[in-house]
Amino acid sequence: MTTVDELDLPVFDQQDAALSGEAFHRQMFDLLERSWLARSNLLGHVVLDREAVDHVLRSRSARMPAIELLELQGVTSGPIHEQLSGNLLNLHGEPHRRLRGLVQSTFTPQAAETLRPAMRAHLAELLRDVGEGTVEFVGRVAKPYPARMIAEVVGAPVEDAPALGEWAYWLQSTFDPTKVAGEPARIERAAVEFHDYVERLLEPGSSAQAGLVADLRPAVEAGRLTPAECISLVGSVLLGGVDTTQAQLSHGMRLFAEHPEQWAALRGDPSLVPAAVDEILRYEPVAPFTVRLVTEAFTHRGVHFPVDSLLIACATTANRDPAVYTDPDVFDVRADRGGTKPLSFGAGPHFCLGMALARAELEEAIAVLVERYATVELAGEVAYDTAPGVYGLHALPLRLGHATPTGTA
Ligand code: HEM
Repeated sequence: MTTVDELDLPVFDQQDAALSGEAFHRQMFDLLERSWLARSNLLGHVVLDREAVDHVLRSRSARMPAIELLELQGVTSGPIHEQLSGNLLNLHGEPHRRLRGLVQSTFTPQAAETLRPAMRAHLAELLRDVGEGTVEFVGRVAKPYPARMIAEVVGAPVEDAPALGEWAYWLQSTFDPTKVAGEPARIERAAVEFHDYVERLLEPGSSAQAGLVADLRPAVEAGRLTPAECISLVGSVLLGGVDTTQAQLSHGMRLFAEHPEQWAALRGDPSLVPAAVDEILRYEPVAPFTVRLVTEAFTHRGVHFPVDSLLIACATTANRDPAVYTDPDVFDVRADRGGTKPLSFGAGPHFCLGMALARAELEEAIAVLVERYATVELAGEVAYDTAPGVYGLHALPLRLGHATPTGTA
Protein backbone atom coordinates (compact mmCIF):
# COMPACT_ATOMS: atom_id res chain seq x y z
CA MET A 1 0.00 0.00 0.00
CA THR A 2 1.32 3.46 -0.91
CA THR A 3 0.92 6.47 1.33
CA VAL A 4 -0.27 9.60 -0.44
CA ASP A 5 2.99 11.46 0.31
CA GLU A 6 5.02 8.75 -1.46
CA LEU A 7 3.20 9.18 -4.77
CA ASP A 8 4.76 11.04 -7.67
CA LEU A 9 1.89 13.41 -8.46
CA PRO A 10 1.31 16.44 -10.69
CA VAL A 11 1.46 19.72 -8.77
CA PHE A 12 -1.45 22.12 -8.35
CA ASP A 13 -0.17 25.71 -8.14
CA GLN A 14 -2.55 27.21 -5.58
CA GLN A 15 -0.73 30.54 -5.61
CA ASP A 16 -1.05 31.03 -9.35
CA ALA A 17 -2.13 34.66 -9.64
CA ALA A 18 -4.18 33.74 -12.71
CA LEU A 19 -6.34 31.26 -10.84
CA SER A 20 -9.54 32.34 -12.56
CA GLY A 21 -11.19 32.28 -15.98
CA GLU A 22 -9.64 30.17 -18.74
CA ALA A 23 -6.23 29.91 -17.01
CA PHE A 24 -7.91 28.30 -13.99
CA HIS A 25 -9.74 25.81 -16.22
CA ARG A 26 -6.58 24.98 -18.16
CA GLN A 27 -4.65 24.18 -14.99
CA MET A 28 -7.44 22.06 -13.45
CA PHE A 29 -8.37 20.08 -16.57
CA ASP A 30 -4.73 19.42 -17.34
CA LEU A 31 -4.37 17.92 -13.84
CA LEU A 32 -7.54 15.83 -14.29
CA GLU A 33 -6.17 14.43 -17.54
CA ARG A 34 -3.03 13.29 -15.75
CA SER A 35 -4.38 11.89 -12.49
CA TRP A 36 -7.26 11.68 -10.00
CA LEU A 37 -5.01 13.23 -7.37
CA ALA A 38 -2.57 16.18 -7.37
CA ARG A 39 -0.24 17.66 -4.78
CA SER A 40 -0.88 21.26 -3.75
CA ASN A 41 2.22 23.45 -3.76
CA LEU A 42 0.92 24.93 -0.47
CA LEU A 43 -0.64 22.27 1.72
CA GLY A 44 -2.34 18.93 1.13
CA HIS A 45 -3.68 17.16 -1.96
CA VAL A 46 -6.35 17.98 -4.50
CA VAL A 47 -8.87 15.26 -5.33
CA LEU A 48 -10.00 15.59 -8.93
CA ASP A 49 -12.39 13.03 -10.38
CA ARG A 50 -16.06 12.63 -9.53
CA GLU A 51 -15.93 9.29 -7.75
CA ALA A 52 -13.04 10.36 -5.50
CA VAL A 53 -14.53 13.81 -4.74
CA ASP A 54 -17.86 12.18 -3.84
CA HIS A 55 -16.04 9.62 -1.67
CA VAL A 56 -14.08 12.26 0.27
CA LEU A 57 -17.13 14.48 0.87
CA ARG A 58 -19.23 11.57 2.14
CA SER A 59 -16.45 10.08 4.25
CA ARG A 60 -16.98 9.94 8.02
CA SER A 61 -13.17 9.76 8.32
CA ALA A 62 -12.68 13.38 7.31
CA ARG A 63 -14.23 16.68 8.39
CA MET A 64 -14.26 20.32 7.39
CA PRO A 65 -11.41 22.00 9.38
CA ALA A 66 -12.94 25.49 9.28
CA ILE A 67 -11.73 26.65 12.69
CA GLU A 68 -8.30 25.00 12.33
CA LEU A 69 -7.71 26.87 9.07
CA LEU A 70 -8.67 30.14 10.72
CA GLU A 71 -6.40 29.45 13.70
CA LEU A 72 -3.53 28.65 11.32
CA GLN A 73 -3.90 32.26 10.22
CA GLY A 74 -3.43 33.47 13.80
CA VAL A 75 -7.09 34.16 14.67
CA THR A 76 -7.64 32.15 17.86
CA SER A 77 -10.33 34.19 19.66
CA GLY A 78 -12.64 37.18 19.24
CA PRO A 79 -15.81 37.76 17.15
CA ILE A 80 -14.53 36.15 13.89
CA HIS A 81 -13.46 33.01 15.77
CA GLU A 82 -16.75 32.90 17.68
CA GLN A 83 -18.79 33.35 14.51
CA LEU A 84 -17.05 30.55 12.65
CA SER A 85 -16.98 28.16 15.64
CA GLY A 86 -20.77 27.92 15.61
CA ASN A 87 -21.15 27.72 11.82
CA LEU A 88 -22.80 24.50 10.62
CA LEU A 89 -19.78 23.81 8.41
CA ASN A 90 -17.55 23.73 11.49
CA LEU A 91 -19.77 21.38 13.51
CA HIS A 92 -19.63 17.60 13.36
CA GLY A 93 -21.53 14.54 14.56
CA GLU A 94 -24.40 15.00 17.02
CA PRO A 95 -24.12 18.82 17.55
CA HIS A 96 -24.20 19.27 13.75
CA ARG A 97 -27.19 16.92 13.31
CA ARG A 98 -29.12 18.62 16.15
CA LEU A 99 -28.67 22.18 14.85
CA ARG A 100 -29.13 21.31 11.18
CA GLY A 101 -32.31 19.44 12.15
CA LEU A 102 -33.73 22.65 13.65
CA VAL A 103 -33.51 24.57 10.36
CA GLN A 104 -34.14 21.75 7.86
CA SER A 105 -37.86 22.50 7.52
CA THR A 106 -37.16 26.10 6.40
CA PHE A 107 -35.20 24.79 3.40
CA THR A 108 -37.32 22.00 1.94
CA PRO A 109 -38.22 22.04 -1.79
CA GLN A 110 -41.81 22.88 -0.75
CA ALA A 111 -40.61 25.87 1.27
CA ALA A 112 -38.61 27.07 -1.75
CA GLU A 113 -41.74 26.76 -3.94
CA THR A 114 -43.68 29.12 -1.67
CA LEU A 115 -40.95 31.74 -2.14
CA ARG A 116 -41.17 31.79 -5.96
CA PRO A 117 -43.72 34.67 -6.11
CA ALA A 118 -41.41 36.77 -3.89
CA MET A 119 -38.48 35.90 -6.18
CA ARG A 120 -40.42 37.07 -9.23
CA ALA A 121 -41.50 40.27 -7.47
CA HIS A 122 -37.92 41.15 -6.51
CA LEU A 123 -36.65 40.39 -10.01
CA ALA A 124 -39.36 42.58 -11.55
CA GLU A 125 -38.35 45.43 -9.26
CA LEU A 126 -34.63 45.00 -9.94
CA LEU A 127 -35.21 44.84 -13.70
CA ARG A 128 -37.75 47.68 -13.81
CA ASP A 129 -35.22 50.28 -14.89
CA VAL A 130 -32.99 47.96 -16.88
CA GLY A 131 -33.85 48.78 -20.44
CA GLU A 132 -32.39 47.65 -23.71
CA GLY A 133 -28.63 48.23 -23.91
CA THR A 134 -25.69 47.83 -21.58
CA VAL A 135 -25.89 46.93 -17.92
CA GLU A 136 -23.36 45.88 -15.29
CA PHE A 137 -25.24 42.73 -14.34
CA VAL A 138 -23.45 41.82 -11.07
CA GLY A 139 -24.12 45.08 -9.26
CA ARG A 140 -27.53 45.68 -10.77
CA VAL A 141 -29.18 42.24 -10.46
CA ALA A 142 -27.02 39.31 -9.32
CA LYS A 143 -25.85 40.93 -6.08
CA PRO A 144 -29.05 42.48 -4.68
CA TYR A 145 -31.35 39.57 -5.63
CA PRO A 146 -30.11 36.82 -3.24
CA ALA A 147 -29.60 39.38 -0.45
CA ARG A 148 -33.29 40.31 -0.76
CA MET A 149 -34.26 36.62 -0.73
CA ILE A 150 -32.20 35.94 2.39
CA ALA A 151 -34.00 38.84 4.07
CA GLU A 152 -37.30 37.11 3.14
CA VAL A 153 -36.07 33.75 4.44
CA VAL A 154 -34.72 35.13 7.71
CA GLY A 155 -37.76 37.35 8.26
CA ALA A 156 -35.81 40.61 8.15
CA PRO A 157 -37.14 43.80 6.53
CA VAL A 158 -36.23 43.91 2.84
CA GLU A 159 -34.73 47.40 3.38
CA ASP A 160 -32.02 45.62 5.38
CA ALA A 161 -31.01 43.47 2.38
CA PRO A 162 -28.01 45.69 1.44
CA ALA A 163 -26.64 45.42 4.99
CA LEU A 164 -27.24 41.64 5.00
CA GLY A 165 -25.43 41.37 1.65
CA GLU A 166 -22.50 43.35 3.03
CA TRP A 167 -22.26 41.19 6.20
CA ALA A 168 -22.57 38.03 4.09
CA TYR A 169 -19.60 39.12 1.99
CA TRP A 170 -17.39 39.85 4.98
CA LEU A 171 -18.44 36.77 6.97
CA GLN A 172 -17.77 34.61 3.89
CA SER A 173 -14.31 36.21 3.79
CA THR A 174 -13.33 34.21 6.90
CA PHE A 175 -12.64 31.40 4.37
CA ASP A 176 -10.26 33.58 2.36
CA PRO A 177 -6.75 33.82 3.90
CA THR A 178 -5.92 37.00 1.96
CA LYS A 179 -8.91 38.83 3.40
CA VAL A 180 -8.40 37.46 6.94
CA ALA A 181 -4.81 38.76 6.81
CA GLY A 182 -5.62 42.02 5.00
CA GLU A 183 -8.95 43.16 6.44
CA PRO A 184 -9.37 41.56 9.89
CA ALA A 185 -10.95 44.69 11.39
CA ARG A 186 -13.58 44.83 8.62
CA ILE A 187 -14.51 41.13 9.07
CA GLU A 188 -14.62 41.59 12.84
CA ARG A 189 -16.92 44.60 12.54
CA ALA A 190 -19.29 42.59 10.30
CA ALA A 191 -19.34 39.72 12.84
CA VAL A 192 -20.21 42.10 15.71
CA GLU A 193 -22.82 44.06 13.73
CA PHE A 194 -24.50 40.89 12.47
CA HIS A 195 -24.53 39.36 15.97
CA ASP A 196 -26.26 42.46 17.41
CA TYR A 197 -28.68 42.62 14.49
CA VAL A 198 -29.91 39.01 14.93
CA GLU A 199 -30.07 39.51 18.70
CA ARG A 200 -32.48 42.41 18.10
CA LEU A 201 -34.52 40.36 15.58
CA LEU A 202 -34.87 37.62 18.20
CA GLU A 203 -36.67 39.93 20.60
CA PRO A 204 -40.38 38.96 20.72
CA GLY A 205 -41.66 42.37 19.54
CA SER A 206 -39.19 42.67 16.63
CA SER A 207 -40.15 42.92 12.95
CA ALA A 208 -39.29 39.22 12.47
CA GLN A 209 -42.74 37.70 12.91
CA ALA A 210 -42.35 35.09 10.14
CA GLY A 211 -39.34 33.31 8.64
CA LEU A 212 -36.31 31.59 10.12
CA VAL A 213 -35.82 33.82 13.18
CA ALA A 214 -39.50 33.56 14.13
CA ASP A 215 -39.34 29.76 13.58
CA LEU A 216 -36.34 29.49 15.91
CA ARG A 217 -37.60 31.90 18.61
CA PRO A 218 -39.74 29.28 20.45
CA ALA A 219 -36.73 26.93 20.71
CA VAL A 220 -34.68 29.78 22.22
CA GLU A 221 -37.48 30.70 24.62
CA ALA A 222 -37.84 27.06 25.68
CA GLY A 223 -34.09 26.78 26.26
CA ARG A 224 -33.61 24.12 23.56
CA LEU A 225 -31.37 26.51 21.65
CA THR A 226 -29.08 29.15 23.13
CA PRO A 227 -29.24 32.67 21.64
CA ALA A 228 -25.60 32.20 20.53
CA GLU A 229 -26.48 28.96 18.69
CA CYS A 230 -29.44 30.67 17.07
CA ILE A 231 -27.30 33.58 15.87
CA SER A 232 -24.75 31.12 14.47
CA LEU A 233 -27.48 29.24 12.61
CA VAL A 234 -28.80 32.43 11.03
CA GLY A 235 -25.17 33.33 10.27
CA SER A 236 -24.65 29.95 8.53
CA VAL A 237 -27.60 30.70 6.28
CA LEU A 238 -26.42 34.23 5.54
CA LEU A 239 -22.87 33.11 4.87
CA GLY A 240 -24.00 30.16 2.71
CA GLY A 241 -26.80 31.76 0.77
CA VAL A 242 -25.84 35.15 -0.63
CA ASP A 243 -22.43 35.20 -2.34
CA THR A 244 -22.87 31.68 -3.73
CA THR A 245 -26.15 32.37 -5.50
CA GLN A 246 -25.04 35.74 -6.84
CA ALA A 247 -21.81 34.19 -8.17
CA GLN A 248 -23.71 31.31 -9.82
CA LEU A 249 -26.20 33.63 -11.49
CA SER A 250 -23.38 35.89 -12.72
CA HIS A 251 -21.44 32.97 -14.21
CA GLY A 252 -24.67 31.63 -15.72
CA MET A 253 -25.32 34.86 -17.60
CA ARG A 254 -21.66 35.04 -18.63
CA LEU A 255 -21.96 31.53 -20.10
CA PHE A 256 -25.06 32.50 -22.07
CA ALA A 257 -23.35 35.65 -23.36
CA GLU A 258 -20.47 33.46 -24.52
CA HIS A 259 -22.83 30.85 -26.03
CA PRO A 260 -25.63 32.82 -27.78
CA GLU A 261 -26.97 29.66 -29.44
CA GLN A 262 -27.74 28.30 -25.94
CA TRP A 263 -29.73 31.44 -25.08
CA ALA A 264 -31.63 31.02 -28.35
CA ALA A 265 -32.35 27.36 -27.49
CA LEU A 266 -33.71 28.39 -24.11
CA ARG A 267 -35.89 31.10 -25.62
CA GLY A 268 -37.20 28.51 -28.06
CA ASP A 269 -38.09 26.14 -25.23
CA PRO A 270 -38.35 27.72 -21.75
CA SER A 271 -39.19 24.29 -20.27
CA LEU A 272 -35.41 23.77 -20.50
CA VAL A 273 -34.81 26.29 -17.67
CA PRO A 274 -34.31 23.68 -14.86
CA ALA A 275 -31.91 21.70 -17.10
CA ALA A 276 -30.11 24.94 -17.97
CA VAL A 277 -29.61 25.69 -14.26
CA ASP A 278 -28.15 22.20 -13.76
CA GLU A 279 -25.84 22.75 -16.71
CA ILE A 280 -24.65 26.13 -15.34
CA LEU A 281 -24.01 24.49 -11.95
CA ARG A 282 -22.14 21.62 -13.62
CA TYR A 283 -20.05 23.74 -15.96
CA GLU A 284 -18.91 26.46 -13.54
CA PRO A 285 -19.42 25.51 -9.88
CA VAL A 286 -18.87 28.55 -7.66
CA ALA A 287 -17.50 26.57 -4.72
CA PRO A 288 -14.70 24.88 -6.70
CA PHE A 289 -12.74 23.70 -3.66
CA THR A 290 -14.07 22.04 -0.51
CA VAL A 291 -11.49 21.27 2.17
CA ARG A 292 -11.43 18.21 4.44
CA LEU A 293 -9.04 17.06 7.18
CA VAL A 294 -8.59 13.30 7.65
CA THR A 295 -9.51 12.37 11.25
CA GLU A 296 -9.26 8.59 10.83
CA ALA A 297 -6.78 7.02 8.39
CA PHE A 298 -8.39 5.45 5.31
CA THR A 299 -7.40 3.87 2.02
CA HIS A 300 -8.95 4.70 -1.33
CA ARG A 301 -7.96 3.08 -4.65
CA GLY A 302 -4.93 1.58 -2.95
CA VAL A 303 -3.69 4.95 -1.62
CA HIS A 304 -3.33 5.37 2.15
CA PHE A 305 -4.41 8.73 3.62
CA PRO A 306 -3.03 9.14 7.17
CA VAL A 307 -4.64 11.17 9.96
CA ASP A 308 -4.17 14.94 9.47
CA SER A 309 -3.92 14.69 5.66
CA LEU A 310 -5.52 17.78 4.14
CA LEU A 311 -7.71 17.07 1.12
CA ILE A 312 -9.15 19.63 -1.28
CA ALA A 313 -12.11 18.19 -3.20
CA CYS A 314 -12.49 19.91 -6.58
CA ALA A 315 -16.04 20.22 -7.94
CA THR A 316 -14.84 21.95 -11.13
CA THR A 317 -12.99 18.85 -12.34
CA ALA A 318 -15.47 16.35 -10.84
CA ASN A 319 -18.26 18.00 -12.84
CA ARG A 320 -16.30 17.55 -16.09
CA ASP A 321 -15.22 13.97 -15.48
CA PRO A 322 -15.28 12.24 -18.91
CA ALA A 323 -15.93 8.91 -17.17
CA VAL A 324 -19.32 10.29 -16.12
CA TYR A 325 -20.36 12.85 -18.74
CA THR A 326 -20.28 12.70 -22.54
CA ASP A 327 -18.62 15.81 -24.02
CA PRO A 328 -18.08 17.30 -20.54
CA ASP A 329 -16.37 20.44 -21.89
CA VAL A 330 -19.39 21.43 -23.96
CA PHE A 331 -21.89 23.83 -22.35
CA ASP A 332 -25.21 22.51 -23.64
CA VAL A 333 -28.58 23.09 -21.98
CA ARG A 334 -30.11 20.30 -24.09
CA ALA A 335 -27.47 17.66 -23.36
CA ASP A 336 -28.56 14.40 -21.77
CA ARG A 337 -26.40 14.26 -18.63
CA GLY A 338 -27.76 10.83 -17.71
CA GLY A 339 -29.40 12.10 -14.54
CA THR A 340 -26.03 12.53 -12.81
CA LYS A 341 -26.30 15.69 -10.74
CA PRO A 342 -23.19 17.87 -10.50
CA LEU A 343 -21.30 18.01 -7.18
CA SER A 344 -21.67 21.80 -7.00
CA PHE A 345 -23.69 21.61 -3.77
CA GLY A 346 -21.25 19.18 -2.14
CA ALA A 347 -22.20 15.75 -0.78
CA GLY A 348 -22.48 13.94 2.55
CA PRO A 349 -23.34 15.45 5.96
CA HIS A 350 -22.59 19.05 4.94
CA PHE A 351 -24.51 18.84 1.66
CA CYS A 352 -25.82 22.34 0.91
CA LEU A 353 -28.75 23.17 3.16
CA GLY A 354 -30.06 25.79 0.74
CA MET A 355 -29.94 23.78 -2.50
CA ALA A 356 -33.69 23.88 -3.20
CA LEU A 357 -33.79 27.61 -2.48
CA ALA A 358 -30.74 28.28 -4.67
CA ARG A 359 -32.11 26.22 -7.57
CA ALA A 360 -35.48 28.01 -7.36
CA GLU A 361 -33.77 31.43 -7.25
CA LEU A 362 -31.65 30.57 -10.29
CA GLU A 363 -34.58 29.10 -12.21
CA GLU A 364 -36.76 32.13 -11.58
CA ALA A 365 -33.99 34.55 -12.58
CA ILE A 366 -33.10 32.73 -15.80
CA ALA A 367 -36.80 32.29 -16.69
CA VAL A 368 -37.54 36.01 -16.22
CA LEU A 369 -34.43 37.08 -18.13
CA VAL A 370 -34.93 34.71 -21.07
CA GLU A 371 -38.54 35.81 -21.42
CA ARG A 372 -37.53 39.46 -21.35
CA TYR A 373 -34.37 39.57 -23.46
CA ALA A 374 -34.01 38.15 -26.96
CA THR A 375 -30.22 38.41 -26.93
CA VAL A 376 -27.45 38.60 -24.34
CA GLU A 377 -23.93 39.65 -25.34
CA LEU A 378 -20.76 40.63 -23.51
CA ALA A 379 -20.37 44.42 -23.61
CA GLY A 380 -16.85 44.59 -22.16
CA GLU A 381 -14.26 42.78 -20.06
CA VAL A 382 -15.52 40.26 -17.50
CA ALA A 383 -13.81 40.90 -14.13
CA TYR A 384 -13.25 37.54 -12.43
CA ASP A 385 -12.68 36.98 -8.71
CA THR A 386 -10.12 34.26 -7.90
CA ALA A 387 -11.38 30.67 -7.71
CA PRO A 388 -10.58 29.74 -4.06
CA GLY A 389 -13.47 30.59 -1.73
CA VAL A 390 -16.62 31.58 -3.60
CA TYR A 391 -15.69 31.96 -7.26
CA GLY A 392 -17.68 34.96 -8.46
CA LEU A 393 -17.40 37.86 -10.84
CA HIS A 394 -16.61 41.44 -9.83
CA ALA A 395 -18.23 42.80 -12.98
CA LEU A 396 -20.20 41.46 -15.94
CA PRO A 397 -21.04 44.10 -18.56
CA LEU A 398 -23.90 42.75 -20.67
CA ARG A 399 -25.66 44.09 -23.74
CA LEU A 400 -29.29 43.06 -23.52
CA GLY A 401 -31.60 42.95 -26.52
CA HIS A 402 -35.26 43.41 -25.68
CA ALA A 403 -37.90 40.86 -26.55
CA THR A 404 -40.87 42.39 -24.77
CA PRO A 405 -41.92 46.02 -24.36
CA THR A 406 -39.89 47.96 -21.77
CA GLY A 407 -41.30 47.72 -18.29
CA THR A 408 -42.66 44.18 -18.46
CA ALA A 409 -40.78 41.52 -16.55
C1 HEM B 1 -25.75 28.32 -6.16
C2 HEM B 1 -25.80 28.50 -4.88
C3 HEM B 1 -25.10 27.64 -3.85
C4 HEM B 1 -24.01 26.84 -3.98
C5 HEM B 1 -23.20 26.56 -5.24
C6 HEM B 1 -23.76 26.26 -2.67
C7 HEM B 1 -22.75 25.34 -2.41
C8 HEM B 1 -22.56 24.73 -1.19
C9 HEM B 1 -21.58 23.71 -0.93
C10 HEM B 1 -20.57 23.16 -1.93
C11 HEM B 1 -21.69 23.36 0.38
C12 HEM B 1 -20.88 22.29 1.11
C13 HEM B 1 -19.60 22.84 1.66
C14 HEM B 1 -18.77 21.76 2.32
O1 HEM B 1 -19.13 20.58 2.31
O2 HEM B 1 -17.70 22.09 2.85
C15 HEM B 1 -22.75 24.17 0.96
C16 HEM B 1 -23.13 24.12 2.28
C17 HEM B 1 -24.06 24.97 2.82
N1 HEM B 1 -24.90 25.83 2.14
FE1 HEM B 1 -24.88 26.20 0.16
N2 HEM B 1 -24.68 26.74 -1.80
C18 HEM B 1 -25.53 27.58 -2.47
C19 HEM B 1 -26.62 28.25 -1.96
C20 HEM B 1 -27.02 28.22 -0.65
C21 HEM B 1 -28.16 28.92 -0.12
C22 HEM B 1 -29.17 29.75 -0.93
C23 HEM B 1 -28.17 28.72 1.21
C24 HEM B 1 -29.18 29.28 2.17
C25 HEM B 1 -29.73 28.63 3.06
C26 HEM B 1 -27.03 27.85 1.53
C27 HEM B 1 -26.67 27.42 2.79
C28 HEM B 1 -25.70 26.48 3.06
C29 HEM B 1 -25.38 26.02 4.40
C30 HEM B 1 -26.01 26.50 5.70
C31 HEM B 1 -24.35 25.07 4.25
C32 HEM B 1 -23.67 24.29 5.37
C33 HEM B 1 -24.45 23.02 5.61
C34 HEM B 1 -23.85 22.16 6.70
O3 HEM B 1 -22.69 22.36 7.07
O4 HEM B 1 -24.57 21.27 7.16
N3 HEM B 1 -26.36 27.58 0.37
N4 HEM B 1 -23.28 24.98 -0.01
